[in-house]
Amino acid sequence: MSSCVLHANLYKMLQMAVFFCVRGILVANTGDIQGGFGMDFLGKHIVLGVCGGVAAYKACELIRELQRLGATVTAVMTPDAEAFIKPLTLEALTHRLVVRGSLTVDAHGTPWHIALAQQGDALVILPATANTLAKLAHGLADDALTTTAISWTGKPMVIIPAMNTRMWENPLTLRNVAILQELDNVTVVPPTSGELACGESGSGHLAALTNQLHSIHRAMTLATQPKEALYLGIRVVITAGGTVEPLDPVRVLTNRSSGKMGVALADAFFALGASVTLIATDTVTIADLNDRPYSLVRVARSAELQLALETLLPHADVLVMAAAVSDFIPADVAAQKIKRGKEAFELSLTPNVDILAAMVAQFPSVYMVGFAAETHDVEHHAQEKLARKGVQVLCVNDVSRSDIGFNADNNELTVFTAQGRIIAVEKTSKALAAQKIASALSTDIHHYLSNKIVFDGQTPLAEVANGVR
Ligand code: CTP
Repeated sequence: MSSCVLHANLYKMLQMAVFFCVRGILVANTGDIQGGFGMDFLGKHIVLGVCGGVAAYKACELIRELQRLGATVTAVMTPDAEAFIKPLTLEALTHRLVVRGSLTVDAHGTPWHIALAQQGDALVILPATANTLAKLAHGLADDALTTTAISWTGKPMVIIPAMNTRMWENPLTLRNVAILQELDNVTVVPPTSGELACGESGSGHLAALTNQLHSIHRAMTLATQPKEALYLGIRVVITAGGTVEPLDPVRVLTNRSSGKMGVALADAFFALGASVTLIATDTVTIADLNDRPYSLVRVARSAELQLALETLLPHADVLVMAAAVSDFIPADVAAQKIKRGKEAFELSLTPNVDILAAMVAQFPSVYMVGFAAETHDVEHHAQEKLARKGVQVLCVNDVSRSDIGFNADNNELTVFTAQGRIIAVEKTSKALAAQKIASALSTDIHHYLSNKIVFDGQTPLAEVANGVR
């Protein structure tokens, strides 16, 4: 090999190393802020099937987002998709050959659909049309996408339909969706209601990008994590943000909690298969929170938070109480704006209910996880609080540090369990910290729930196994 070629190769390797390093940093920073996926998309190969629907252009957005998170995307198009979007567009975005037509082979003579089924980590179909849903449900394979889909066994397939309401609500389409949902590896992300391209309004609108990404993330997590690490069928309620207590119609008493950690925990438990309800206070301003594929309840005052918990906990298995609840609330709420005066103004506050302790007393069968923000003697306060609140777990962070405190994107915690386990979560993004906590608690939670008997004489885990849930 000439030295010139050697230099060229070394230069290329160096370039690649720098590229992956920079991309890794970008992913770690941006992905966690906006998506909360940790590093889970990094290095993954997503096969994206595009069908012939108006929403075909939305495939471009998904490609960009998956790439930003570190994944490689190969696009496969149905013949009708080409009427809506040019293969060249997808080729330019993915930097890869677009697979189309029906009888294509790769450079080694291997049929594309088989090669993709071997190499891909997830098959995503967006937009899935009524026609392709029907073909998939009945095992038809007459184009590049359906031949890829029929070869796609044992790996996650995420189907994201979009079509006119009449087509979506047609009993034949719904029956085809039901057939597909019976397959273990298939997730169907249902369309939402909204304005449709045809001018009508109704269900059939493509699910939001945030919903798409979280659904793909969950499908990949379920396929790669061991069964005992998952929360399939387990109902988890998570609280996030700071409560807001009104003083008068204009002013409020609140705190600096951003809710980022609570939302990251909701994302993490959802990805691990839990059925999640997030109770977020009004202070949680994460833009795409409404588009998460799990239930969201909004509250402001601590009394509303308590009421929401009392409504949800009779049907829950786990509570993760990450919200920062006011310890004191105004003794009176003025009906009219308190006006400026010349005298000193004294605000009268009364101690608030300890909601977590009240929930522990009211719902002893729910596995309770508390959070504590401390500024000093962290471990001492944690052990005292764990016992005082009667929770199974207390996660503690030191909010005196600005790099991991309120509103920061990173966190460093210590998790104390009632059984005496101490789990250190080193400084990392809130998304990764949440993933670590959710994974670290799975054995304890399964053990706790296996001893809990629900009203029909079964344990929650037996209900999941028997298909009651
Ligand atoms: N918590 C609650 N109700 C309150 C105050 C706190 O449910 N009125 C919950 C929080 O959501 C958290 C846990 O209790 O999960 C610990 O909160 P923290 O503020 O650290 O504990 P406090 O009991 O308020 O103790 P202190 O503020 O004096 O440290």
